[in-house]
Amino acid sequence: MWLRLLLLLLGSVAVTPVEATPPFVGHGGPVKDLRAGEGILVSAGFDYSLVVWDPDAGIVRRRLMGHRGPVNAVAATSDGRLLVSTGDDGHLAVWDAAEGRLLAYRRGHDAKAVAIAVSADGHFAATAGWDGRVVVWRLPEAEPVRTLGRPPLRYTGVAFTDDGRLVAADSAGAVTAWRLDDGRMLWRVGETGFPATRLVRRGARLYLAGIDGTVRIRSMRDGREVARLAGERRPVTSLAVDRDGRRLAAGGARGTVQIWSVPERRVERVLEVAGGQVWALAFASDGRRLFVGAADGAIRVFDVAEGRRLAGPGETWVTETDRIAAATGAPALFGKCRLCHSLTPDDENKSGPTFWGLLGRRVGTLEGYPYSEALRRARVVWTEETLYELFAIGPDRYLPGTKMPVQRIEDRRAVRELVAWLARVTERERAATRAEGRPR
Ligand code: HEC
Repeated sequence: MWLRLLLLLLGSVAVTPVEATPPFVGHGGPVKDLRAGEGILVSAGFDYSLVVWDPDAGIVRRRLMGHRGPVNAVAATSDGRLLVSTGDDGHLAVWDAAEGRLLAYRRGHDAKAVAIAVSADGHFAATAGWDGRVVVWRLPEAEPVRTLGRPPLRYTGVAFTDDGRLVAADSAGAVTAWRLDDGRMLWRVGETGFPATRLVRRGARLYLAGIDGTVRIRSMRDGREVARLAGERRPVTSLAVDRDGRRLAAGGARGTVQIWSVPERRVERVLEVAGGQVWALAFASDGRRLFVGAADGAIRVFDVAEGRRLAGPGETWVTETDRIAAATGAPALFGKCRLCHSLTPDDENKSGPTFWGLLGRRVGTLEGYPYSEALRRARVVWTEETLYELFAIGPDRYLPGTKMPVQRIEDRRAVRELVAWLARVTERERAATRAEGRPR
């Protein structure tokens, strides 16, 4: 049920307005997680990649490719030497942070894994999965050393404590603590019936974001609730806590971020982020800046105290796809598709296959694109009619097993308009490419 809700939220992203200051753009789909440290920022993307940034200049230092699915979570050892990540592929990936080399890649979950943590000494990682498992791994070799958890719960957050315990948040809103040395469960408390979406630990406190719009603060010792911050009654989909636990940022579906003063239990300000649903948040190590990762694939930087978008470096980022869309009067609905699909022969590093030459193409046959099994096996040829059916019926039913997270679109006229435009523009681009002799 809450999965469907999340998918709906993802599907309801509006067209991004033009912005005065350019954000960091390195992902071709939603930014799912962010970690910031001294002089480093790492983002995890729906486009299967991780990006290591220079957090001051907004420059991509390195792109890490290796996951076979959207990357949902990333963490770093405290010495900054290793990065670990996990995602829809249920694998743990261990990376050399300086060189971006993939050191180990190993399966740990039978379903997607959505959260990751590293122990203070950097010797262990833990991943939390929808298969009801929390897996503890030895680093850097990615050797699984313990499996905890209780299916059919889905684990949605995980953290190590400083005294040899592991805590995890789950789909019933509760937190469980285990002893690491023998795997014994110590307690499970706070079942609310609302899935927890994020878990952060700071000192002796646990911060739990929920789909019910709250952030609950719990004691790490016994899980007792010590405070509850109730914001808008909308799912909190991202959470960051500053170093000393005084300030907290909670991001949500409508593209807003609430900045809370924790001691005063009040919202200091609300940031309006232009890029759709906020999936990822991280405070810079100085605590003054907040990095915000949104559904449009961009990372924006805010001054926390003033609530102001900071001027981004570099020139304004307009892709060839944006240019074509503007020149051909793209219908509003394309704003949704554009997050993940380009209109050019190359895919502009988007997470979905390019629409270039879509009409007349058999589903799942663009060379070099890692389609799901479902699409590779399907026999549909894309015409105006089949494209219409795709969204009238819904991709999940029209092509069961597809990894495209977009659902049925109710507004039939808007779908007709989109399809007619797509047919026109993909044909036009093909003709233009032929005329210019540009390589396919
Ligand atoms: C959040 C990312 C995302 C969004 C938004 C999105 N798609 Fe997709 N789309 C994908 C992915 C990923 C695939 C590949 C699916 C697979 O392999 O199962 C895909 C596949 C497709 C295909 C099949 C292409 C082929 O080569 O066979 C079509 C057609 C398509 N999408 C149309 C659309 C349209 C139209 C929209 C906007 C209404 C849209 N998509 C929005 C991610 C997205």
